[in-house]
Amino acid sequence: MIVLGIESSCDDTSAAVVADGRKVLSCVTFGQEAFHRKFSGVVPEIASRRHMEAIEPTVRSALEEAGISAKDLDGLAVTSGPGLVGSILVGLAFGKALAFSLGIPFVGVDHVRAHLAAALLADPPAEFPFIGLAVSGGHTHLFLVKDIDDLGLIGRTLDDAAGECFDKIAKALGLGYPGGPAIERFAEGADSKAFKLPKPKLHDGTLDFSFSGLKTATLNQMKNLPRPIPEPTAKNLAASFQQAIVDVLVSKLLDAVKKTALNRVVVAGGVAANRTLYLNMAAAAKKADINLFFAPTAYCTDNAAMVAVAGSRLLEKGKTSDLGLNSYANLQQNTP
Ligand code: KG4
Ligand code: ZN
Repeated sequence: MIVLGIESSCDDTSAAVVADGRKVLSCVTFGQEAFHRKFSGVVPEIASRRHMEAIEPTVRSALEEAGISAKDLDGLAVTSGPGLVGSILVGLAFGKALAFSLGIPFVGVDHVRAHLAAALLADPPAEFPFIGLAVSGGHTHLFLVKDIDDLGLIGRTLDDAAGECFDKIAKALGLGYPGGPAIERFAEGADSKAFKLPKPKLHDGTLDFSFSGLKTATLNQMKNLPRPIPEPTAKNLAASFQQAIVDVLVSKLLDAVKKTALNRVVVAGGVAANRTLYLNMAAAAKKADINLFFAPTAYCTDNAAMVAVAGSRLLEKGKTSDLGLNSYANLQQNTP
């Protein structure tokens, strides 16, 4: 089964061709970072307009790179939410029209579930059931995942998402957007113990997260520093901040394993590309005998391959969406 995936929920226009739910034949992503950088965040109106320009050539490139024509497609999977509805609608309308014209099945895919499905592209691939941490700019959510269409929320951030915090602290430090990779590069080799920062909700007995207190504490520490902040000090602050986020994520994942007695864990989403998170989580998993899967780095940040993988699984089970499918902005638990 050859499936075309389309992703346009934020600032990346992406199209991918995936065979048999596992083999990525192509994944072409048109990133808009350059258009949003001066605003230090994504401007929804700009994002929708750029998707409009990019969607057709991106899909065309994905088909070309895969060496197939649209007629070879067996199915089409498109992100239908959560995200920026104006952006999602561009990919969704394009995907619906293409599926209709080709007469092939079409399925709407939940973006957060697609992030988790990226772990099926890991080597070896993740197997169900697992505890899934989707950690990105929009989400820090823990799920008990029996299958891509059968999962339950077991913990979530009560305020900011981890990636959002990375972006805000990077902006304050003048490191630009997106903040996660910028902080990771800047903090390399610095002292992650130099600043004492709070780790909210650590060991509070719940699987929920809270990052706004850590963000505020980091900004307050910055206010007390001499201006301009000496670079080694700024690097140490960035490293301490990064470590605090990582410590909370790792600790909550260990709590989730204890609570659910399930020892298979998946980490996916943009922040899963963070090397410090990977190294810390891998060490903790080894110690606690946890079977750990990270989404491959290439498929951590938004991409259409993960959408095609999740969509393939749904289509294999005979799940399709009708052409009246709409987009949605917020996390929904009961969508397929
Ligand atoms: O999954 P994604 O592309 O979009 C959302 O669904 O939100 O995630 C983007 C987020 C941004 O906040 C970005 O700063 C963060 O993921 N990110 C990282 C890294 N790469 C991307 N955070 C920490 N370390 C990274 N290497
Ligand atoms: Zn995402």
